[in-house]
Amino acid sequence: MRAVQFSAYGAPEVLEVVTVEAPRPGPGEIVIEVASAGINQLDTKIRSGSMAQSAELPTPLGTGVDAAGTVVEVGPGVDDVAPGEVVFGTGVGTLAERAILTQWAALPERTDPVEAGGWGVAVETSHRLLTELGVERGTILLSGASGGVGSALVQLARHRGLRVVGTASEKNHAYLEHLGATAITYGSGLVDRVRAAAPEGIAGALDLSGAGVIADLIALTGDPSTVISISDFTAPRLGAKISTGATRTTNPRDGFAEALTVPGFALSIERRFSLDNAAEAHHAAESGHTVGKLIVIP
Ligand SMILES: NC(=O)c1ccc[n+]([C@@H]2O[C@H](COP(=O)([O-])OP(=O)(O)OC[C@H]3O[C@@H](n4cnc5c(N)ncnc54)[C@H](OP(=O)(O)O)[C@@H]3O)[C@@H](O)[C@H]2O)c1
Repeated sequence: MRAVQFSAYGAPEVLEVVTVEAPRPGPGEIVIEVASAGINQLDTKIRSGSMAQSAELPTPLGTGVDAAGTVVEVGPGVDDVAPGEVVFGTGVGTLAERAILTQWAALPERTDPVEAGGWGVAVETSHRLLTELGVERGTILLSGASGGVGSALVQLARHRGLRVVGTASEKNHAYLEHLGATAITYGSGLVDRVRAAAPEGIAGALDLSGAGVIADLIALTGDPSTVISISDFTAPRLGAKISTGATRTTNPRDGFAEALTVPGFALSIERRFSLDNAAEAHHAAESGHTVGKLIVIP
C-alpha cells in the first residue's frame, strides 16, 4: 500500500510517499481502509523533530493520527466493530491507504467518512478540556477558536448549554458565529473586548492557540484554576493548568460519543490534499491559521 513516511526530521519536504506492507491490527486495534485523514499541528511538530529526544530517527516513521474509513480487520479483543463498518477515530500512520486505529466510534450512515477524517483529535481534546474545566453553566472563553480544536469545542460546549465567546481573526468571525459562538478579535485589548462581549463574566477559559494570553485569561475568570491551556507550557507558572493527551483521565470514546449526540456536528474542511501533497498539507498546518480542518484523501 502507499503511505507517507519520513526518514529524517526536518521541513515538510522530508515527507515522501513509499510503498510498504499494509499494517495488521494488534490486540485492541483495528485496521481501516482510510477514506480521509486529518492533519494536526502535532504531526508537524513530530516531523520537524521539535518533540524528539535525539536528532537521529532510527527507522522511517509514518505520520498522521486522525482518520475515518471502513474497517478491514479487527485485532484480538475487539468486539464492538466488524469489517465493513465505517468508523472515525485516532491511531498511527493515518496518511496511508490503510492505518491502525486505537480509538474509534462507528459513524452514522448519514455521515460521509471523508468529512470525519479530521474529527478524532479535535473531538477528544474538546471533550477532555470541557470535562477538566468542569463549568456546567454560564460563559466560557476560547482563545483561538476557529481552528480544528476550537471548531469542535464550540459545538460541544454549545450543546452542553454553555455560552461561548471565541477569539479569531476578523475574517473568521462569521464562521465562528455560524458555529454558535460570539466572535471577538485576539491581540492587544483582549480583556476589555471580552468584558464588553460577556458582561455576565467568564466562568472558565481555554487557551487553544498558545498565544501568550494566560495572564489575561486569569484576569477574566479571576481564578487560575479555571484556566487551561493545551499549547502554552508556561501556564502552570501562573497557576493555570496544562492539558495533554498523555496525562488525560478522560476516555476518548466518551468524547466521540458526545460529538455524535450533537445534531449536525461537523468540522469545516478548509482544504483537501492527496498523499502526494502531504508536504503542502504540513506547510498549510504550520501557518497556524487553519479554519476547521485540513484533510488528506489517499
Ligand atoms: N495538548 C493537547 O492535548 C493538544 C491537543 C490538540 C492540539 N493541541 C495544540 O493546540 C494548538 C491548536 O490546535 P488546533 O488543531 O486547533 O490548531 P489549528 O487548527 O492550526 O488552529 C489554530 C487557531 O489558532 C488561531 N490563532 C492564530 N494566531 C492566534 C493568536 N495570536 N491568538 C489567538 N488565536 C490565534 C487561528 O485563528 P485565525 O486563523 O482566526 O487567526 C487558528 O484558528 C496547536 O498548537 C496544537 O498542536 C494540543
